[in-house]
Amino acid sequence: MEFDTLCLHANGDKRNGYGAIATPIYQSATFVHESVEEVSEYSYSRLSNPTRARLEKTVASLENGTAAFAFSSGMAAISAVMKLFSASDHIIASDDLYGGSLRLFRNVNMAEGMTFDFVNTADIKAVESLIGEHTKAIYAETPSNPLMHVSDIAALAELAHRYGLLLIVDNTFLTPYYQNPLDLGADIVIHSGTKYLGGHNDTLAGFAVVKSSELAERIAYVYKTIGAALSPFDCFLIERGIKTLPLRMDKISTNARTVARWLRCRKEVKKIYYIGFEDHKGYSISQKQSRGFGGMISFEVESRELAENILANVKIIQYAESLGGVDSLITYPMRQTHADVPEKERLERGINDRFLRLSIGIENEKDLIEDLRQAFEQ
Ligand SMILES: Cc1ncc(COP(=O)(O)O)c(C=O)c1O
Repeated sequence: MEFDTLCLHANGDKRNGYGAIATPIYQSATFVHESVEEVSEYSYSRLSNPTRARLEKTVASLENGTAAFAFSSGMAAISAVMKLFSASDHIIASDDLYGGSLRLFRNVNMAEGMTFDFVNTADIKAVESLIGEHTKAIYAETPSNPLMHVSDIAALAELAHRYGLLLIVDNTFLTPYYQNPLDLGADIVIHSGTKYLGGHNDTLAGFAVVKSSELAERIAYVYKTIGAALSPFDCFLIERGIKTLPLRMDKISTNARTVARWLRCRKEVKKIYYIGFEDHKGYSISQKQSRGFGGMISFEVESRELAENILANVKIIQYAESLGGVDSLITYPMRQTHADVPEKERLERGINDRFLRLSIGIENEKDLIEDLRQAFEQ
């Protein structure tokens, strides 16, 4: 089956007895065993649930994985994956990451004894130079949030495997519609399902997807033990969202290209970070490893005053945290997604008081541009 068909039919079997087209929401904590000898397929919803199983089958198929695990948020998925490691293990991570992932690594995992080095994972030599005796994994977000660094997944996978490390890739920004890290050699793919997979800014969710059955077993053990499973109703919403993933991504990407080009022509815009521009540093890698550029654009305007004016005056585009939904959102990373990154580091990376991040939605592109124009000119 092709990708768009898989979004609807990957989970072929209808375990509902009535042939319902929509996945029934099995809102049950526990399941009856037929007899003392027979253990039913489902026993307790922290371990597995029929609604969740269908969603996990779909996500595993879209990422060409053997197993997917649906968590209550993207952060729950990343936290669970970090439980595969022990105190004193060392991980090399992208230096540009969603602020919550940085907070987890620095304030939780490091407090438990793990060590991390942060580096631009687009620079393979720099990554290699950090590999040491205790290194166990490379963790990359590509494209990264919010600076849009593009890392070469196949090259990172080759490096990781040469040294016996795992490669973990957060594929939230491009989704499996545009990029399949497992096919490029990654061992674990992470998604904040809250974003494009759900697609409607109405549900939190997260996924870890793997190819190897050995990793699947290890994650399944953590999964049932820590208990951060996605609820049946939320599974229903995410599965429903996935049905339109290709349609949404096509429209979002077209809109984003138009908005990025418009922003680039504004004299008030001093820097623009959009992976679809041919002069983006990672353009040739994107061409090689992905099938589209997605809907994320970051940009820096000439003054703090203008940045605040834009946030205060957009009308169709909403000033709100998060990304990947049908509604366009604008974020102030300094105050929101990256507020916990130490100021010095944040400023060195360019996440300053003039830096904004746009998540383009499915509105008409003319309305998005007109909305930005009037907000720029207030
Ligand atoms: C790239 C990326 N990964 C992970 C997360 C965490 O996901 P969640 O908010 O669903 O916990 C986010 C959240 O913004 C993100 O942008």
